[in-house]
Amino acid sequence: MSQRVLTTESGAPVADNQNSATAGVGGPLLLQDQHLLEKLARFNRERIPERVVHARGSGAYGHFEVTDDVTDFTHADFLGGVGKRTEVFLRFSTVADSLGGADAVRDPRGFAVKFYTEEGNYDLVGNNTPVFFIKDPIKFPDFIHSQKRDPFTGRQEPDNVWDFWAHSPEATHQVTWLMGDRGIPASYRHMNGYGSHTYQWTNSRGDAFFVKYHFKTNQGIRCLSSGQAAEIAGKDPNSHQTDLLQAIERGVHPSWTLYVQLMPAAEAADYRFNPFDLTKVWPHQDYPLKRVGRLVLDRNPDNVFAEVEQAAFSPNNFVPGIGPSPDKMLQGRLFAYADAHRYRLGVNHTLLAVNAPKATTAQNYGRDGLMASNAQGRHAKNYEPNSYDGPVETGRPLSAPLAVNGHTGTHEAPAHTKDDDFFQAGELFRLMSAEEKSRLVANIAGGLSQVSRDDVIEKNLAHFHAADPEYGRRVEEAVRALRED
Ligand code: HEM
Repeated sequence: MSQRVLTTESGAPVADNQNSATAGVGGPLLLQDQHLLEKLARFNRERIPERVVHARGSGAYGHFEVTDDVTDFTHADFLGGVGKRTEVFLRFSTVADSLGGADAVRDPRGFAVKFYTEEGNYDLVGNNTPVFFIKDPIKFPDFIHSQKRDPFTGRQEPDNVWDFWAHSPEATHQVTWLMGDRGIPASYRHMNGYGSHTYQWTNSRGDAFFVKYHFKTNQGIRCLSSGQAAEIAGKDPNSHQTDLLQAIERGVHPSWTLYVQLMPAAEAADYRFNPFDLTKVWPHQDYPLKRVGRLVLDRNPDNVFAEVEQAAFSPNNFVPGIGPSPDKMLQGRLFAYADAHRYRLGVNHTLLAVNAPKATTAQNYGRDGLMASNAQGRHAKNYEPNSYDGPVETGRPLSAPLAVNGHTGTHEAPAHTKDDDFFQAGELFRLMSAEEKSRLVANIAGGLSQVSRDDVIEKNLAHFHAADPEYGRRVEEAVRALRED
């Protein structure tokens, strides 16, 4: 076989890839050296903005297979019968650190699944935690600012982290989760994934259900202590990436079993707490887990930049039979993601192979824009309605309508009988073994004791006291002991 020829980007053969063209021996460079100019210019443009959150991540392809019939609850085609298989792409991530951070850190993990269904791509953009720190999207930019690097010091600051939580009692449940053993998963394979929000399913009769998703790892839960994590992060900052990549290359395909909790829509208004509050879980005694299917990852991407960095997930990508709930956080996210993609990747990000539908084709009247890399619509008309057999609307809403009432305004969520911010944090604390409680208390005290202001410490302690008297007392004692040292 003859040796392939190196070319410029426009395909012309390159004469020399080691020496730039100069004016005479030892002279200055020539502007006519197209290959040199192209190489330097392209190199300058290799980076795109990293994700504002969840910048570090790893991805893999696989499939989802339905194992249990859920057609009484949703008419989503990809869930429409035992044995039905759908290709998926899953991106795992950490949240707070930038691309150059480490994997083995105390932080929630992203768990974003793209189902390439025959009715379009369905994105379920979740985390490894069933709850979140806040319940109104208007707080999200402030929350993230407090957790990422301080604009002056350029470091994550315990003062900022804990000051935000001091003012956000609703974060107590998630803080308890994060500071507990599950706060540092050993790898992406050894953790669960959750949709976290409440979503809506609609069946073929039009009945609506509210639904929460739980992906349970079949590898077993494995976690790291703070000490183990610090050592691993120092030795291999890419420990999660290494683990996932190598497992799949070895043919050890990680899998998760998907369960859902289902609440008939009519029960939501009178449930004892707001079922759309993202800081709370639904007790399994009220809404037991129902098995749906199995997700398997079996193929690594060929190119991390093209397929993982450029992957674009949006909670607003629904398919018929699945829709949003009135959860305010979710509603805010329905805007945020595609907006981020347009900024980070451009208006044509859905044409990239990882983001384009695979089991169907996109047919609409959107055209042009930066990097319109295919002949969208070819010769077809680019307006609708038209007389030329162009694609038309179905007239069928994707999901059941949500009832609304009242006046516009900046309202708090509707009141339920047991809406307080602390009781589930207390329940989680009481579920822990004696050793788990001790590690939780030590982790919290390790962070909180570094805070410079007493009033911020006191406000945080009040949250742990409100969750459980023993919890509050032990954190308080541990913080005092560390500050007296
Ligand atoms: C990534 C916004 C809450 C899970 C992102 C990105 C933005 C964002 C702008 C970057 C997207 C990109 O550049 O591709 C928000 C806002 C939130 C919110 C405004 C609250 C109002 C949440 C919650 C979860 C979550 C509650 C989980 C339940 C994720 C995940 C990613 C992500 C997994 C990474 C997706 C990927 O792998 O590409 N978020 N987020 N976010 N967010 Fe959120």
